[in-house]
Amino acid sequence: MATQQKSFSSNLGAIMAAVGSAVGLGNIWRFPYTCGKYGGGAFLLVYLCFVFLLGSVLMMSEFVIGRRSQHTPIKAFGTLRPDRKGWMLVGVLGVVTSFFILSQYLVLSGWTTGYVWDAARGTLGSLGTDAAAISDYFKAFSTDAWRPALFLGVFSLLVLAVILGGVQKGIENVSKVLMPVLVLLILVLCVKSLTLPGAGKGVEYLFSADFSKLTGEGVLAALGQALFSLSVGMGVMIVYGSYIPLSDNIFKTAMWITVCDTLIAVLAGLAIFPAVFSCGLDPAGGPGLVFCVLPNVFNLMGGAGTVFAVLFFVLLTVAALTSAISLLEALTATFCEHTHASRTAGALLFFGLTTALGLVFSLSMGSLSHVTVNNLTLFDFVDRLNSIYLPPLCALFAILFFGWVMPEDEVKDELSNHGTLSIGFYPVLRFLARYVVPLALLVVIVSGILS
Ligand code: PFF
Repeated sequence: MATQQKSFSSNLGAIMAAVGSAVGLGNIWRFPYTCGKYGGGAFLLVYLCFVFLLGSVLMMSEFVIGRRSQHTPIKAFGTLRPDRKGWMLVGVLGVVTSFFILSQYLVLSGWTTGYVWDAARGTLGSLGTDAAAISDYFKAFSTDAWRPALFLGVFSLLVLAVILGGVQKGIENVSKVLMPVLVLLILVLCVKSLTLPGAGKGVEYLFSADFSKLTGEGVLAALGQALFSLSVGMGVMIVYGSYIPLSDNIFKTAMWITVCDTLIAVLAGLAIFPAVFSCGLDPAGGPGLVFCVLPNVFNLMGGAGTVFAVLFFVLLTVAALTSAISLLEALTATFCEHTHASRTAGALLFFGLTTALGLVFSLSMGSLSHVTVNNLTLFDFVDRLNSIYLPPLCALFAILFFGWVMPEDEVKDELSNHGTLSIGFYPVLRFLARYVVPLALLVVIVSGILS
């Protein structure tokens, strides 16, 4: 196919950047509490099936669409089937999804950035071990107008700086540094957590399989988490796919990313729950776990707690940064391809738009909480849109395109690097892509609509 205009410099660079996109708040924050809530090991089992049988297939399909076409999502669909231009709408849906996800993601990332600051200057430590004071502090912080806005702005500027650096010098180089840092941080926290007295109870909470807690809702949560965690269903992996070097093995690359993403999610659980249980605290769900329970855990550790608090919130912020980078890159690259605007102009435009919308979502927790859609605050509304509707819908159309619309010889040619790699896995992949994945996504979408 066409020569590559922009690409990562190596297979390692491609894997690091894509793992950077995949590993984020979803792994370190959402996975552990969802896993605990829906039966620990039972949830993990279902999650592993979804991640490897559905998520990795979706990732491969997005990589194939991106690398084969050498275009960003909208043009990618149009190029691969020029006689069926309607499919370009799937690309549009992906871009819209990335836009909303990034705007919401910036709010949460702003909180984690703010907590790095608060942990470092001792504000969190000064709250002591009074659970009510810690949660009041978080409530005051998240509903305030200015402080979240300030940290959201700082975080967005970091994301912008990396995008302005370019694909290799910005995204790839930053990911190559930050991913090892992230692994190191999480390992340090795991060792600390697992060596606390009574840590075993936390490990048990995470791994012992309680199938009675694995409700239908839990199974759906596992599927939603698998999609979100692997960053599929928003066109981001189509853009990153177009940057994968032409000599790379797409199957192996996707598998590496899936394995790393899953390992980091499990390690995050091991860094969090043993410490929580060792302190005799209850593992809360949602924001409470990270912003209320964990500060209490760190304060119970005494002097060293401040260091671990800073390390933990830096870990969260680093993870969020490389994910947000991939979202802004997808928006910027798509815009620039269609308008021929400069990368700087595109990045600045989407930095401005997503930051502005992020600020509105942030204010919707406080001064704008009276503005509602369907009885939900703007933040909760976009959260629902981003978790239940948009990504599964986008993923469904992308996999239908891959399985049924894209010419099969082109799929095989791309997966085998023009016949130079063996693709013995292909019949299984095709079966999953044509039947299993679309059916599972349909179930998620329908149950989301009915819920
Ligand atoms: N995978 C990221 C996480 O687990 O936090 C979130 C994410 C990043 C979703 C990029 C989608 C995306 F395109």
